Amino acid sequence: MTHFLDIHTTSQPDLRQIIDSARDMKTARAGRPKGTRDDDQPLDGHMVALIFEKPSTRTRVSFDVGVRQMGGQTMVLSGSDMQLGHGETIADTARVLSRYVDLIMIRTFEEATLLEMAEYATVPVINGLTNRTHPCQIMADIMTFEEHRGPIRGKKVVWSGDGNNVFASFAHAAKQFEFDLVFTGPEPLDPERALDGLYTTERDPARAVEGADLVVTDTWVSMHDPQSARERRHNQLRGYQVNADLMAQAKADSLFMHCLPAHRDDEATSEIMDGPHSVIFDEAENRLHAQKAIMRWCLGV
Ligand code: CP
Ligand code: NVA
Repeated sequence: MTHFLDIHTTSQPDLRQIIDSARDMKTARAGRPKGTRDDDQPLDGHMVALIFEKPSTRTRVSFDVGVRQMGGQTMVLSGSDMQLGHGETIADTARVLSRYVDLIMIRTFEEATLLEMAEYATVPVINGLTNRTHPCQIMADIMTFEEHRGPIRGKKVVWSGDGNNVFASFAHAAKQFEFDLVFTGPEPLDPERALDGLYTTERDPARAVEGADLVVTDTWVSMHDPQSARERRHNQLRGYQVNADLMAQAKADSLFMHCLPAHRDDEATSEIMDGPHSVIFDEAENRLHAQKAIMRWCLGV
């Protein structure tokens, strides 16, 4: 069973093949209306379940559109509407869904839920974000960087802010795609220890971004973080805002990324988000193309 659970659990050649395939599929349908089908219909006859236990705009719409462009059908399911949210086990849910659908994408809280789904499903399972990682996002981000600047290998990527789930997938990608990753943020919000060795830390954001090819940030309060921590996090992270002063320390042609949704003028200023360094909407578009390639890879079609 070929699941797409994380970047560090997918081989380097497979990750590269997915990026190449995403780029080729994007090129092949350039300029067409979004609702038209691709020339190839590799998901013809395939049914895909998209399960959301957390809110989503990009993941929900890009997976749904991507499946339809490739000739498949989708059902979008909310965790709370399923028996899953009312006591049915993940293992039973996985075995039941596998009798109806050919592929499962799940966005959930605990990583254990994703792993149990993958263990018991007899169809491929894709990680659409957990509290720990967000691999589909980072595949789109690698694709986006390489579209604008060529190979990411050997480049300097700087993450400014919370050491969260999106950072974790960047850390996994740093090893697999061989780029240098620097984390700058307050010590209480350091990435989890399991990521040690995949990145370096520089507490001073201005020093961290010196010579950066790419500067990345994300929300200061993630969906799994308690709202009660909001004020404390804002106080801890204020000095790590990506603004014009900070970007001025990076390379002149550096890119700026944010997976979105953003809280404008908190983690990044609107000036940066809408300015010449920013590729945030290319990232969002490339979710579509990257995930189409991931689904094809999972299904071997
Ligand atoms: N970046 C991302 O995953 O966005 P959504 O939460 O809207 O899916
Ligand atoms: N870190 C954010 C990413 C949202 C796409 C969260 O988990 O809420």
